[in-house]
Amino acid sequence: MFGTLLYIFSRLLFSFWIYPIRAHLKLKRNGFGGPSPNFPLGNLKEMRKISQEASSVSGSSKISHDIHSTVFPYFATWKQSHGKVFIYWLGTEPFLYIADPEFLKAMSSGVLGKSWGKPRVFKHDREPMFGNGLVMVEGEDWVRHRHVITPAFSPSNLKAMASLMLESTNTMLDRWADLINSGNHEIDVEREITGTAGEIIARTSFGIGYENGRKVFEKLREVQVTLFRSNRYVGVPFSKMMCPKKTMEAKRLGKEIDDLLMSIITARKKDDSKGAGNKGRDLLGLLLEGNGREGKTLTTRELVDECKTFFFGGHETTALAISWTLLLLAQHPEWQNQLREEIRQVTKDKELDVAMLAGLKKMGWVMNEVLRLYPPAPNVQRQAREDIEVKEVIRIPKGTNMWIDVVSMHHDPELWGKDVNVFKPERFRDDALYGGCEHKMGFLPFGFGGRMCIGRNLTSMEYKLVLSSILTRFSFSLSPAYSHSPTILLSLRPTLGLPLLVNALS
Ligand code: HEM
Repeated sequence: MFGTLLYIFSRLLFSFWIYPIRAHLKLKRNGFGGPSPNFPLGNLKEMRKISQEASSVSGSSKISHDIHSTVFPYFATWKQSHGKVFIYWLGTEPFLYIADPEFLKAMSSGVLGKSWGKPRVFKHDREPMFGNGLVMVEGEDWVRHRHVITPAFSPSNLKAMASLMLESTNTMLDRWADLINSGNHEIDVEREITGTAGEIIARTSFGIGYENGRKVFEKLREVQVTLFRSNRYVGVPFSKMMCPKKTMEAKRLGKEIDDLLMSIITARKKDDSKGAGNKGRDLLGLLLEGNGREGKTLTTRELVDECKTFFFGGHETTALAISWTLLLLAQHPEWQNQLREEIRQVTKDKELDVAMLAGLKKMGWVMNEVLRLYPPAPNVQRQAREDIEVKEVIRIPKGTNMWIDVVSMHHDPELWGKDVNVFKPERFRDDALYGGCEHKMGFLPFGFGGRMCIGRNLTSMEYKLVLSSILTRFSFSLSPAYSHSPTILLSLRPTLGLPLLVNALS
């Protein structure tokens, strides 16, 4: 008995104390600084204090695009004293903070997609949302998943989804027209667009209607709020026991989502075996069809996790990109007009179709500029699975967690110039990919390397279809009720919604 207790004690001591300190010392030997941690919270207490101070001083009636110190106030503070690369601690987990694209390039250039890990501490925490789907899976499993999934996002498969996207968008816009006709011009566009993007992903991914889809994504939203809005002790030993209610709630919701998706997949498999399914028309059908090709297979459990990943990754980020765009266009009616003119030239007043989207160049600049100022995925995370050498002088030890601060790089005047916080889509006119950024790794809305976002072409298509449909039917301006509230809830959201005053175009 004593022996067992001693064994457990020494395991805990090593996991929570000795290994992290050793990792920290190795990192410090490379010359990285950072705020001093305390056991067992690391820097969480300081992060909370800085966040509270920042929220008590931030005014919301004025719209500033200089959002880094609003959404990541602790990183903005530490960056001033420790530079663009430093160490901070979430509980007993040391993280290497990176907001320097040159360092990121040197560090990541020799690491293959399959060799990257995702921080274990987040994997556990986010299990109910992503399971072991493509966002989280690692190594050879990641290669297998990516291999099965990639063909589902081919241009011809995406093209087949366009009519569903337009159908759902038109239903939303007809509702807007009804609201306006009945004298109600104020519309919370974020809520509307998130609902429609959810419907689009439910139909294009699983061939299921809004009602069933809504059940899944309402539960996903509940998990997200449960996990990210309450006091969080990520990285702190036994943190799950410190918040048992939250942990149980997230687990229960995760299980309900799994059950729902499992029943959708099983029904589809049954239909397909009877030859009655619409295999091939949506992402799930394409996955089932591609499954087994060249011996690469996903189990039903893995399919459930991929479905969760598509559901969450596939609607919220795209909806946020469109919503933030509407805010910026509401502030810049001259850009609404320029885009309308471009749509007219490209469509020649015919109905919009996918083949025309490539011609919407200015809309592409606007999308990139919005993703720069308000990146829906505000950070990228990695964990080193092997020691990584950087320029032969720095050694990042195996197991190091990394937090790549995308918001910081997108708002860095040294990379973008003095007008970094100005909405200026024309940055992307002569440099469509990087917007004139001083460094090619300074603009990372979809991540980097082999693990870059698999859904970026789907997003670009949906963005252009939805935005063109809105712009051809309506004009919009800011509502006096709008309060600027960009906040991180895993993604970068306008927490208090996005009410706009919308008018039908004659
Ligand atoms: C504006 C829209 C979107 C943004 C900003 C976005 C952003 C990102 C980012 C930053 C990553 C991480 C890349 C990395 O770790 O380097 C990622 C990965 C991923 N995204 Fe997206 N995404 C968007 C839309 C979508 C859509 C529509 C889908 C699916 C339907 C999707 C599915 C995924 C998946 C599965 C991964 C994991 C890829 C891998 O690790 O192999 N995303 N996305």
